[in-house]
Amino acid sequence: MTESLPAVGRTAVGVAALRALESRRPDRLFDDPYATAFYEAGRSVLPEPGDGTRDGLGPLFAAQVAIRTRFYDDYLLDAGCAQVVLLAAGLDARAFRLAWPPGVRLFELDLPEVLAFKDQVLTGQGAQPSCERVVVPADLREDWASALRDAGFDPGVPTAWLAEGLLVYLSAEDAGKLLTTVSELSAPGSRVSFEHRPTDTADGLLARARATPTGERVTRLWLGGLGGRAPEWLRDHGWRPTTHTRAELAEGYGRPAREDQTAGGFVTAVR
Ligand SMILES: C[S@@+](CC[C@H](N)C(=O)[O-])C[C@H]1O[C@@H](n2cnc3c(N)ncnc32)[C@H](O)[C@@H]1O
Repeated sequence: MTESLPAVGRTAVGVAALRALESRRPDRLFDDPYATAFYEAGRSVLPEPGDGTRDGLGPLFAAQVAIRTRFYDDYLLDAGCAQVVLLAAGLDARAFRLAWPPGVRLFELDLPEVLAFKDQVLTGQGAQPSCERVVVPADLREDWASALRDAGFDPGVPTAWLAEGLLVYLSAEDAGKLLTTVSELSAPGSRVSFEHRPTDTADGLLARARATPTGERVTRLWLGGLGGRAPEWLRDHGWRPTTHTRAELAEGYGRPAREDQTAGGFVTAVR
């Protein structure tokens, strides 16, 4: 099953591995009880230990995934929206592990191969969602809005949108098209959140990532999305954005603020 995962879909297994690591910490920022099962089922697509990533970028990515997972958990629950859409849900288990209020309908979009792999693992785990979960296989560079509507999405209802770990894998044009569609489908009171990051940053993260075989394989897939322009884009398209740096969030969660967490961060916006 893992062989059919496209390169970009394999990155979701890497994220699940990092969520499994965080879930084992006594001071964990969240507990993802399915992350280990995803990792175990998908580990054959991950690089062997010892290619240098573990010593260099591994801890950085682990710290980033821990912070972003917790940040988006809080964002989605605090949004108070009865309709939630996870764009590029990957192996995100929020539909199963968060305490949703009654009546929440949550849509998960990702590539068909990723969602098929995910559901096979979840079925094996006997996982039961804590909300109404609707899976929508779609390529987010194409007409995903029709698939979402056909699956029961109601554009008249305020929605909490999440694009976690996605935009960097899209070109600026595709990222702009995706967010334009999100804007068109968003009733007043809707929210959106995702990471933003200038493409060229002083911390040299990109150059460091490219210096390891795994990092090179992953960064080859990074097309940049909207880069650091995301907050401005949102402001120009009818949203009220707020930005949060990783360092500021790390401090709030009692984690060391690393120098390489200062560039970019997260944006949340209200329509
Ligand atoms: C780094 S993973 C993040 C997954 C999940 N949001 C998380 O944080 O665990 C990137 C995800 O984006 C998805 N993705 C990338 N390009 C996509 C596209 N054009 N259409 C649908 N999904 C896409 C991949 O399949 C993968 O699941």
